[in-house]
Amino acid sequence: MTPAPRLRLAPSLLSADFGALGRAVRSAEDAGADALHLDVMDGHFVPNLSFGPALVAAVRARTRLPLDVHLMIAEPRRYADAFRRAGGDTLVFHVEANGDPRETIRAIRGSGAAVGIALSPETPWERIEPVVGDVDQVLVMSVHPGFSGQAFLPEVLPKVTRARARLEESGRPSDVSIDGGVTVATAADAARAGATFFVCGNSAFLGGPIAQNLARLRAAVEEGARGAVR
Ligand code: DX5
Ligand code: ZN
Repeated sequence: MTPAPRLRLAPSLLSADFGALGRAVRSAEDAGADALHLDVMDGHFVPNLSFGPALVAAVRARTRLPLDVHLMIAEPRRYADAFRRAGGDTLVFHVEANGDPRETIRAIRGSGAAVGIALSPETPWERIEPVVGDVDQVLVMSVHPGFSGQAFLPEVLPKVTRARARLEESGRPSDVSIDGGVTVATAADAARAGATFFVCGNSAFLGGPIAQNLARLRAAVEEGARGAVR
C-alpha cells in the first residue's frame, strides 16, 4: 500500500484582498503555506467570475510556492496551455465540465502541468472512478463551487475516504484535496476521512493573522489524521 502524501495547507487567494495581492501572497508564504490555491471562474460553469491567466502569472512572479489552479470553467481543455504558461503547477478541472475527462487529462499532461480532477458536492464518486488512476489529485468540493465563505457539507466525506482508499490501492501517491468551508472545526473531520490537501479561504485570510490561522488549521488536520479511518 502506498503511503498517503504529507498533509498540506493551501490558502485560497479568493479570500485575500485583491487590492494587495502581492502582500497576501507573501504573508501566506511567510505563514508556512504549502501551496496557493487559485480559483478560476468563468460565469458559465459557476455563476461567479474571478480571474484568468494574467493574474496567475502575476502570482507566479511573486512566489515559488506550488500553484494549485482550480478551473471552475466550462471548457478546461481549451485553456490548459494558457494556465500552464501562466505558471500553474497543478491544473484541477471539474468532471462535470464539457469534454471527455480523458481528453482533458491528456491536454493538461501535454501542457506539462500535474492533473487534478474535481467533483461538485452532488456528483457521485462513480463519475471519476474510471480515471482516478490517471490523476495527481482528486479534489472533493465540500461547498457548491462559486463562492468562498460557505458552510462545509459533511455529506461529501465518504467520497474523500473512497478516493483515499482507491488511490492507495492503485499505488499512486496522489492528493485528496478538500475545498470549501474548511475551518478549524471541519478540517479534522476531513483529515480523518483521508484528505491530504486542505484548501482554506476565509479561515486562512480572515479573522486574525494568517500565521496564527494556519497554525491552528495545521494542528487540527494533524490531530484528525492521527485518528484517520484508513
Ligand atoms: C469555492 C472555491 C474555494 C473557496 C474556498 O468555489 O473553490 O476554493 O475559495 O473558500 P472557503 O475556504 O472560504 O470556503
Ligand atoms: Zn477552489
